[in-house]
Amino acid sequence: MKKLFLLICTSATLSLFSSFAQAEKNAELYQHGEETHEAHCNKCHTSSVYTRETRFVKSMEALSKQVRRCKDNLGIAWFDEDTEAVAHFLNEKYYKF
Ligand code: HEC
Repeated sequence: MKKLFLLICTSATLSLFSSFAQAEKNAELYQHGEETHEAHCNKCHTSSVYTRETRFVKSMEALSKQVRRCKDNLGIAWFDEDTEAVAHFLNEKYYKF
């Protein structure tokens, strides 16, 4: 019985740690996305395109695609991580899929 209890405690603690790690990773992704967006993405439109009535992005997949399409217009090289971070940031802040 004691062993079972210990086992349960250990796995609960482990999953707590992994959710902390996940939250931290998300926070880093968000911050990186926010900074990258701030630096590059306000040239043609402001953030109001993400909140307007007629916004056309309707899914997380479409959001990633659109971020990619828009950054290709910038003519600068981005790592996949940058694109992923910006899509994550836009989703957390505006789209909430
Ligand atoms: C070269 C100009 C240009 C740049 C730079 C640009 N965009 Fe765009 N973006 C557009 C245009 C044009 C649209 C479509 C606007 C419309 O339909 O009225 C758009 C639309 C979008 C949408 C869809 C909005 C909706 O309706 O849901 C997203 C998301 C987006 N851009 C993200 C980004 C991100 C992220 C960056 C930075 C990498 C970026 N854009 C930089 C031109 C640009």
